[in-house]
Amino acid sequence: MANYKISIIKGDGIGPEIVDEAMKVLDRVAYKCGFSLEYSEYLMGGIAVDMTGVPLPDETIQGVLNSDACLFGAIGGAKWDTLPRELRPESGLLKFRKEMGVFANLRPAVVYDELINASSLKPEVVKGVDLMVVRELIGGIYFGEPRGKDDFKGWNTMVYSVPEIERIAHVAFKLAQKRRKKVCSVDKANVLDVSQLWRDTVTKIAVEYPDVELSHMYVDNAAMQLIANPRQFDVILTGNIFGDILSDEASMLSGSIGLLPSASTGEKTAVYEPIHGSAPDIAGQGIANPIATISSASMMLRYSLGEEKAADMIDSAIKKALSEGYRTKDLAAFDAKEVVSTSEMGDIIANYID
Ligand code: IPM
Ligand code: MG
Repeated sequence: MANYKISIIKGDGIGPEIVDEAMKVLDRVAYKCGFSLEYSEYLMGGIAVDMTGVPLPDETIQGVLNSDACLFGAIGGAKWDTLPRELRPESGLLKFRKEMGVFANLRPAVVYDELINASSLKPEVVKGVDLMVVRELIGGIYFGEPRGKDDFKGWNTMVYSVPEIERIAHVAFKLAQKRRKKVCSVDKANVLDVSQLWRDTVTKIAVEYPDVELSHMYVDNAAMQLIANPRQFDVILTGNIFGDILSDEASMLSGSIGLLPSASTGEKTAVYEPIHGSAPDIAGQGIANPIATISSASMMLRYSLGEEKAADMIDSAIKKALSEGYRTKDLAAFDAKEVVSTSEMGDIIANYID
């Protein structure tokens, strides 16, 4: 029987509640499909600051590197916002991504037919949307040197090297081959030199994937096209900060940021997490939507563990819960038959696995 080592980081705010539900569903599907999951829990974020004095303890880095994959909740909260930058939960997260070498961040935006009315856009615009943002995660302006600020000015640097662009481009093209075979690379090549290098490099790599159609778009236009005609997109390939912004925008096509999962992969390990944050304002009330995290667990089974069938079972169970009209509070206004708590939603999805 296959046994997988899974590292768990619950984090802050609603993190613990939503990760518990994902583990509930994972346990059920593992039992059904005949494999086992061995969990080890690690600290990161505000809770790590409180308990150890730093947002990313070394033990977490080692533990996650020694696991087959990591399931992660969310971090951060007002309580830690006034700490010096290097002690902030967000700094822990950025260091974590870097240490794990997870350069490819995959953020799908899928519109569930059952929730088509939850989108702020017209149903006829968003119906059938199924796109994937491939965001470079450990380079660009987030990490470029020099950076700093004094009393008069602040500065950051957007840097990409050819190998950094090449490896993320390969991820996007390979993914497109398994989907609708289209890559749209997003940059700001009309203004930024780093973007011109990005565009030239992606164009060069595209030659290796003749079955995939490549287009280029400036980021301002892409932001507009995403809400004007989102169905035109299959895979969107972009750098760190553009991907940060466009993936939040894309998530709203589906109506709720509480639905969407993400995967961050690289050469050493992979991290799976909901795309939403730690929502401290609703923590502990049992009203958070666990679906994004449960769906992240499904991505983990599919991409890191090769347990495709188990992943399909989770995806169908989520769809079934939604089509039966079960909704957490965030989606209560959209064709809800019954409004349920965080843990009830976990139970319902786990039961549909059977
Ligand atoms: C995200 C978040 C992070 C980012 C923050 C919390 C550092 O917005 O994962 O999209 O900007 O990458
Ligand atoms: Mg973001």
